[in-house]
Amino acid sequence: MASMRRILMCRPTYFRIAYEINPWMNRRVGSDPGESARQWQALHDALVGLGVTVELLDPVDGLPDLVFTANAGLVYRDLFLSSRFRYGERQGETPVFDRWFAEHGFEVEHTPDEHHFEGAGDALFCGETLFAGYRFRSDARTMQWVGDRIGVEVLPLELVDPRYYHLDTCFCPIAPDAAVFFPGAFDEYGRSVLRDRIRTLIEVSAEEAFSFSCNAVVVGRSVLLNEGAPKLAKALERHGYRTIPLTLTEFIKAGGSAKCLTFRLDGEDAARWRSAADRSAAV
Ligand code: ARG
Repeated sequence: MASMRRILMCRPTYFRIAYEINPWMNRRVGSDPGESARQWQALHDALVGLGVTVELLDPVDGLPDLVFTANAGLVYRDLFLSSRFRYGERQGETPVFDRWFAEHGFEVEHTPDEHHFEGAGDALFCGETLFAGYRFRSDARTMQWVGDRIGVEVLPLELVDPRYYHLDTCFCPIAPDAAVFFPGAFDEYGRSVLRDRIRTLIEVSAEEAFSFSCNAVVVGRSVLLNEGAPKLAKALERHGYRTIPLTLTEFIKAGGSAKCLTFRLDGEDAARWRSAADRSAAV
């Protein structure tokens, strides 16, 4: 059966370290354009190889972080809730994303203008629940607004380590009742929420979290992630997953990896509403 999975990506044509808005970015280190293009292409090809339809957003000169399409906004069925970026450096991306979603049949809506929201970088479904990271980028109040707007339960999780400034850098749902997470990025309360609400939780060590291993793309039983996480790979294998390690060092220089470079348009595998939509589409 043909896969219905669709992911939005953007070529790194204009990707570079042009500013510093998270602890990973350092303008003096810079990035290598040829190497960035090769690494991005390998991720793209691996997704296509898994049967994913990859849609491409045209890159824009002057918007280096547009490659991180996970931050476009949040998709829920045919609604696109557009991001409100915290830093001016990324705010120019919003009209570009809005145009793409409007042209591709989504209803485009904005969150209230007084609070920040960085989309699927901070808001991730596990089952029916939206797990929502806040503090460094998104505001907790916007997350509640998002939950009310789409009618789902939101569990806000405070992020406490500036290196793990987006939820998708330290938490990755792999199925409606299973996720990978790095405990050190959350406070005691956040850890207890995750433990109470997700049946299977795979813990990532500090060392492997630092290789961006939580920033993974899940396609069925395959998990694509940055290399350098052998312990996590073993744990995932025990749970019936196989990992596809990729070299994504150029993007880590900007504070992003596999997951940040992708935006799932039909709902993540771990989102319960996706399978419900698939079931009704199959009737
Ligand atoms: N340089 C980008 C920023 O700081 C990286 C974004 C990474 N995206 C993500 N979903 N974690 O905004």
